[in-house]
Amino acid sequence: MAGNNKIDFSLLGRVLQLTKPYRSIFFWTGFLAIILAPLGTARPYLINVMVDKYIVVGDLQGLIRMSMVLVVLLVITALARYAFNYLSNWLGQLVIKDLRISVFNHIIHLGLPYFDRTAIGQSTTRTINDIETINSIFTQGTVTIVADLLGMVAVLVIMFITSVKLTLICLIALPFLIWAGYVFKEKAKASFQIVRTKIAQMNAFLNERITGMRIVQIFNAEEQESRKFRLINRDYTQANLDTNFYYAIFFPAVELIAAMTLALMVWWGARGALTGQVTIGELIAFPIYLTMLLRPVRMLADRFNTLQMGLVAADRVFGILDKEHGLKDNGQIAVEQVAGHIEFDRVTFSYDGEVDVLKDVSFEVQPGKTLAVVGHTGSGKSTLINLLNRFYHLKNGTIRVDGIALEEYDMRTLRQRMALVLQDVFLFTGSVFDNITLRNENITQEEVIDASRLIGAHEFIEKLPGGYDFVVMERGNNLSMGQRQLISFVRALVFNPNILILDEATSSIDTETEAVIQYAIETLIAKRTSIIIAHRLSTIRHADQIMVLDKGEIREMGTHEELLRINNGFYKKLYDMQFADLQPAI
Ligand SMILES: Nc1ncnc2c1ncn2[C@@H]1O[C@H](COP(=O)(O)OP(=O)(O)OP(=O)(O)O)[C@@H](O)[C@H]1O
Ligand SMILES: [Mg+2]
Repeated sequence: MAGNNKIDFSLLGRVLQLTKPYRSIFFWTGFLAIILAPLGTARPYLINVMVDKYIVVGDLQGLIRMSMVLVVLLVITALARYAFNYLSNWLGQLVIKDLRISVFNHIIHLGLPYFDRTAIGQSTTRTINDIETINSIFTQGTVTIVADLLGMVAVLVIMFITSVKLTLICLIALPFLIWAGYVFKEKAKASFQIVRTKIAQMNAFLNERITGMRIVQIFNAEEQESRKFRLINRDYTQANLDTNFYYAIFFPAVELIAAMTLALMVWWGARGALTGQVTIGELIAFPIYLTMLLRPVRMLADRFNTLQMGLVAADRVFGILDKEHGLKDNGQIAVEQVAGHIEFDRVTFSYDGEVDVLKDVSFEVQPGKTLAVVGHTGSGKSTLINLLNRFYHLKNGTIRVDGIALEEYDMRTLRQRMALVLQDVFLFTGSVFDNITLRNENITQEEVIDASRLIGAHEFIEKLPGGYDFVVMERGNNLSMGQRQLISFVRALVFNPNILILDEATSSIDTETEAVIQYAIETLIAKRTSIIIAHRLSTIRHADQIMVLDKGEIREMGTHEELLRINNGFYKKLYDMQFADLQPAI
């Protein structure tokens, strides 16, 4: 719809539907728009009457009376205009406030496949910039356009009633103005779109550089980046200048047309006044009518653009709202506790529908037991976890917990019984405490401290400035990798899950922290069904069973000793490669 000129009325209707909860505000805004039209035209009309009926005949009493009426009218008009502006802005803000919430709520429920395909910046833009643009539909786009049009009609009516000939002279300018307005609207719209693309590019560039600042500085890439930024910045500035160019031409052009019309009208009107065809009052009132008629024409071109851009934004936002919640969650079985029996039954899976990342994978974990998964990078280990959480659809096969297929569970309740510690620990901006509880108010301070003690994290947390109130920066930048990991362990333990899934971080940690983390892991997996994607020999050896995954297929399965006995076995090779030289240390 960006490309054509038509206003998409069904889309506009849907935007206006959003005002439903605020029907009375909408009603009053509309009402004010309607009464403002005649109120505005009353002023020149009264002046006309004052001149012709009182000044020319010298009726001072009447003049004073009329002046009072005029003053009262001006005050009422000013109040009504104020109320109109206030209400239309208020309405816009109320609507977009609701809209932001629904978009956010919708996004956090979308399935992970959506996030694999969508840039982060895009989701942010939808929730902030696009919704802001929708606001202008209310402040400038709809009611204001209607108010302007009504105002023009009112002026035209009163002009025709007063003097048909003068009105016709005024109307000579109208086709020119409409044509100029149309040309301006088209040009301005095109260059506005360029401005928007450029600013999006600039945002994306900045976003990426700031996130990757460390890399930029480590590789001394400041010079190149700065050059690239200068280019983008130049394009952006040029686009803005182009837009201003059209404004700079359009408004003076309109002024010129208006001035010429005025001159024509005054010339003709003055002649008419001399011959008695036109009254002095009309001669004074008409220039005011003319301004009132032409000003909206000039604004309308701009306002239609605003409306159209608002609708483009609305189209995108509705696009998100109409997206299905990825995976249908109509499972009925709600659980409070699970025993923790896990079964993958001939599971085949692909992220993109082409390459199978898991191929015919079958295994079982008995309640309370620990399964360690090992394999080369990219072999599909983390994918197992994504599937167990039902983040994606399987291509084939079934995953069961306690003998019941995942699809039959009310996933919310099942996820509550599973805790997940991911390979790349994610911490949010906020206190350590909030990062542990994720703002779940049922978790008490004692529980958090107990869990930290059990994990062995209490000591270091207490030493942080502010202890549990220590403020974690974005993504946990002000904590070490090991510390972040420990906090995520406490987070998992505090929820006291029946099933624990742990994706060990691949990055190496110093031996002292290694010991702490080892202890923490043992605490975590005790008495729970656990699946651990392990990179540390110490973790692997503690597992009841080890599964070797290679290119999405299970190669070997057994205990540490069993697997080492397989001659030329995959595990043995992996073990020799990665751990053999470590063994004496363990
Ligand atoms: N969100 C995704 N979208 C598309 N492909 C993906 C996605 N996540 C992983 N893959 C692909 O699936 C394969 C398996 O990835 P997975 O993350 O399961 O490997 P992994 O065994 O956990 O590796 P590592 O030991 O490095 O963590 C890889 O080839 C990867 O490119
Ligand atoms: Mg992984």
